[in-house]
Amino acid sequence: MMPVRRDVRFNLPPERACDWHAQGPYVTHFFNALSLLFPAGERFFMDSVRNYRDRIDDPELKKQVLGFIGQEAMHTREHIEYNDLLQEAGLPAHKLDKRLWAVLNFFRKVLPDSYQLAITVCLEHYTAMLANLLLEDATRIGGSVEGYTQMWTWHALEETEHKAVSYDVWNTVLKPGLGRYLLRTGTMLATTVTFWLIVFDFHVRLLIADRKRGGHLRGMWRIVKYLYGPRHGVFPRIAGEWLSFFRPGFHPWDYDNRAQLARIDGLVAAIDAANAITPSARKATRRGVQASA
Ligand SMILES: [Fe+2]
Ligand SMILES: [Fe+2]
Repeated sequence: MMPVRRDVRFNLPPERACDWHAQGPYVTHFFNALSLLFPAGERFFMDSVRNYRDRIDDPELKKQVLGFIGQEAMHTREHIEYNDLLQEAGLPAHKLDKRLWAVLNFFRKVLPDSYQLAITVCLEHYTAMLANLLLEDATRIGGSVEGYTQMWTWHALEETEHKAVSYDVWNTVLKPGLGRYLLRTGTMLATTVTFWLIVFDFHVRLLIADRKRGGHLRGMWRIVKYLYGPRHGVFPRIAGEWLSFFRPGFHPWDYDNRAQLARIDGLVAAIDAANAITPSARKATRRGVQASA
């Protein structure tokens, strides 16, 4: 599987930044909280893999690493614009982004390269699990505002495409054995707690900042169902894949969902078409973003 860098742009209506998801503002802000993690988080992923680039001899894996870095760089660029829209809408996006940069810069300073790569491997498994859920279950994002839906679907497809790259680097550069297994699985336990605490914290802060849309019980019930519902809830749906990470012989492609990737060319064509139809709206959005920068 060779990750391809796709330079795409999205038409995100700024006036819908706080309420673009079909299931209302509470679910919208769950996704918005995730979006705030990407600029700092994906830079951390790229750097932790780059640290080991010189120790990879396999030309195929070298190319995959380049593709991985290219894709994450595009995701970062687009999520910075998305997050700027959140800031313009009155949410503390820049403050939360800065806070995460501080945390991850601290990790960069104090943790050995192998720990940093372990964090990336675990979080790439998280992005792969969440991406797969979004791609397989139409109720996750169906019926939402088009530009936002396209952006999340594009990100989910590319996360699927490169889901094994950091793991293959990990297997290549670290000595096999119990130490490697314990570092990977121990980091998964620590990362799980930290990741969800940060998501919860960011989500609550966005809801508080946007309280004119929040505060009603129906919205709260929807997000509880969205995350924990026994049939479609995020947590029950990813539990099995999360557990599979603890198998000693785990590999991200054990769960073969490459069939999903057949959608990507059609999606890119639809994104281009949407931008061709609304170039003025897109330019206006971009000007607004630049003016606020
Ligand atoms: Fe990404
Ligand atoms: Fe990724």
